[in-house]
Amino acid sequence: MSLAPHGGKLIDRQEIGKNLDDLKTDIVIDAMALSDLELLAIGGYSPLTGFMSEKEYKSVVEKMRLTDGTVWSIPITLPVSAEQADQLTPGETARLIFEGTVYGSIEVGEVYTPDKEKEAEHVYRTSDHSHPGVSKLFSRGDVYVSGEITLTKRTVPSFPEHYFDPSETRAAFADKGWKTIVGFQTRNPVHRAHEYIQKTALETVDGLFLNPLVGETKSDDISAAIRMKSYRVLLDEYYPKQRVFLGVFPAAMRYAGPREAIFHALVRKNYGCTHFIVGRDHAGVGDYYGTYDAQYIFDEFQPEEIGITPLRFEHSFYCSKCEGMATTKSCPHAAEYRVILSGTKVREMLRKGEVPPSTFSRPEVIKVLIEGMRERETEEAK
Ligand code: ADX
Repeated sequence: MSLAPHGGKLIDRQEIGKNLDDLKTDIVIDAMALSDLELLAIGGYSPLTGFMSEKEYKSVVEKMRLTDGTVWSIPITLPVSAEQADQLTPGETARLIFEGTVYGSIEVGEVYTPDKEKEAEHVYRTSDHSHPGVSKLFSRGDVYVSGEITLTKRTVPSFPEHYFDPSETRAAFADKGWKTIVGFQTRNPVHRAHEYIQKTALETVDGLFLNPLVGETKSDDISAAIRMKSYRVLLDEYYPKQRVFLGVFPAAMRYAGPREAIFHALVRKNYGCTHFIVGRDHAGVGDYYGTYDAQYIFDEFQPEEIGITPLRFEHSFYCSKCEGMATTKSCPHAAEYRVILSGTKVREMLRKGEVPPSTFSRPEVIKVLIEGMRERETEEAK
């Protein structure tokens, strides 16, 4: 028996191939809404069945709960422009269109104007527009449309061999006989610190679900295509094949730190994980969140309300005295012996073709990253 999905039932709102030609109204959606539409339909966001109503939205923003009390931390909303909103009538079914292609439909429930300042303050803990999640929030339409969705066309995944629906990952984990599965969210290449916490977890659970986010990220994050290559070489060289499952997470990154950690955990529960790694500054950006805020937020709920066990990890690093990876929980040595490089610093080194030390990242991974960046720069120069 695998772990129950959030809310008890895996949602499936797909009617692939259904003809929507008779519908009169179209709503043009952005890439983030398209990924939300698909995740809603395949059950990634169970128990949600559509874009949130005003009541649901307010409850999530203010209380991190759906109106029935179920924990949910990130609003899943469909923003449209005021002009588009004027053309919508509650009760009608509208087509959802991305870049000229129909991907599904929504039974329009409500059309409402959100308080975005409040949403930002609650969800992102700041309304500073330099925060990438806040800036994205304000760049999207000012009116939200609620309603149950149906997905009629699947997107073409960028990494088809690593694209699995929650029903498929659940079946795959069961096939492997895994009873405990730890999910790992990442938007970065897997460096030694990530590897250390994953492998520490692997010592006590049956399998690792490496689940890199490949939806929209901010422009200076390393692209998903380069990252996927780096994960593959790393897994080939350093992980036991039969204990790791690599599958992508198609959601957009919100950079909402603590709130997003809860969201990431709940969604991984839907994918069939029993445990979820939350390390330092999970889903954070800049200095907006305290290093362990994304761990503390789990204490605001009863464990059974979350239903997936967070595995909390301290900031890990290589210690040259220990001659191994460690955290301050296991290593007594002074900070001067620690190899700690910021993401910005590493990106800068890679751009210059400099190789970070093997105590920071596996050489095979660095090679892929440098090559990937070079290729991208050559393409951009064309
Ligand atoms: S995230 O935005 O997807 O959280 P990242 O890919 O850097 O960013 O992190 C993936 C996971 O590893 C998160 O749970 C994060 O907290 C954790 N993590 C990243 N670096 C470290 C580190 N040095 N020590 C401990 N945990 C870390």
